[in-house]
Amino acid sequence: MGFSNYGNHWRNLRRLTTLEIFSAKRLAMFSAVRREEVQDQSSSGKWTKGKDAVNHKAKEFQNVMREVSELLSSNLNDFVPVLKWVDCQGIEKRMIKLMKKMDGFLQCLVDEHRSMATATASSGSSTRAEGKMTLIDFMLSSQETESSFLDDETLKRVMLAMLLAGTDTSASTIEWAMTLLLNHPEAMQKAWLEIHSNVGEDGLLDEPELPKDLNWAEERLVLVVNKLLPFGAGRRACPGAVLGRRVVALALGCLIQCFEWQRLSHDLVDLAEGTGLTMPKSEPLQASYNPRHTMVHILTKL
Ligand code: HEM
Repeated sequence: MGFSNYGNHWRNLRRLTTLEIFSAKRLAMFSAVRREEVQDQSSSGKWTKGKDAVNHKAKEFQNVMREVSELLSSNLNDFVPVLKWVDCQGIEKRMIKLMKKMDGFLQCLVDEHRSMATATASSGSSTRAEGKMTLIDFMLSSQETESSFLDDETLKRVMLAMLLAGTDTSASTIEWAMTLLLNHPEAMQKAWLEIHSNVGEDGLLDEPELPKDLNWAEERLVLVVNKLLPFGAGRRACPGAVLGRRVVALALGCLIQCFEWQRLSHDLVDLAEGTGLTMPKSEPLQASYNPRHTMVHILTKL
């Protein structure tokens, strides 16, 4: 969608995503999936097992995404179109190779979710439990009503747009926010106190609590949203802004609630920017952490 020219097709995609996928009702519907993901991220097993536990497929996907993002941001052909003829950076060739990989990955997801839907239907229940529905499940079910334009190819492209536009952006925002919090431990402590006084130690921060928690973050986010326009502006502005803010606030909040974070040395974490569409850090953030002793009983149950 992000690469679609302004016209009927883009309008259809925008309508589908803005009104159907990102509506308040749908976002509420997907909240269980987000909660599970954040719990998974915070689970002590995963944190102590470290890199080995990271799913191989997810890692492979992450690498492809990184490369796509890097290629998109460093393409001279966009600025000097005549260079397209020679493709001096070899970007087109690399992009074609990457897209084949990505298509295979997306097709697997579509097939997997389609067969889950078929299995659910043949087991007698008409749909999966609403709380367990994902974006893909919803789009597959929309194919019946939107058959004029939502064929499998378009569906995969919408998924790609969501993945490209929604994953690195959120991850990078969390990484920058953690960087700033590590450089300002008093702000980290203030955020923790606020979460602690609202959620306590009996459970993990969850979406319904977000509006009343992280007030400090909300205040600053509103300032940033109004001044720096991180979600763009106008008709091409980010349709996933509400989801993005929720994911970032929830993930960041849980990281602060569950762990004590420290810089690796007395020096401030470097704020240099790398190249990439989503303004990555020049060097990935590294920090040390320990589970908060008051949260261990919850972390070990995840
Ligand atoms: C903190 C997280 C996010 C940030 C900072 C962000 C930022 C942006 C920005 C600046 C644009 C406008 C680009 C332009 O002007 O052409 C945009 C577009 C877009 N974003 Fe996001 N985004 C975030 C999260 C998400 C999420 C979670 C999704 C979906 C799952 C998403 C989907 C999209 C799509 C599809 C577009 C293209 C819209 C169009 O061309 O009509 N974004 N995003």
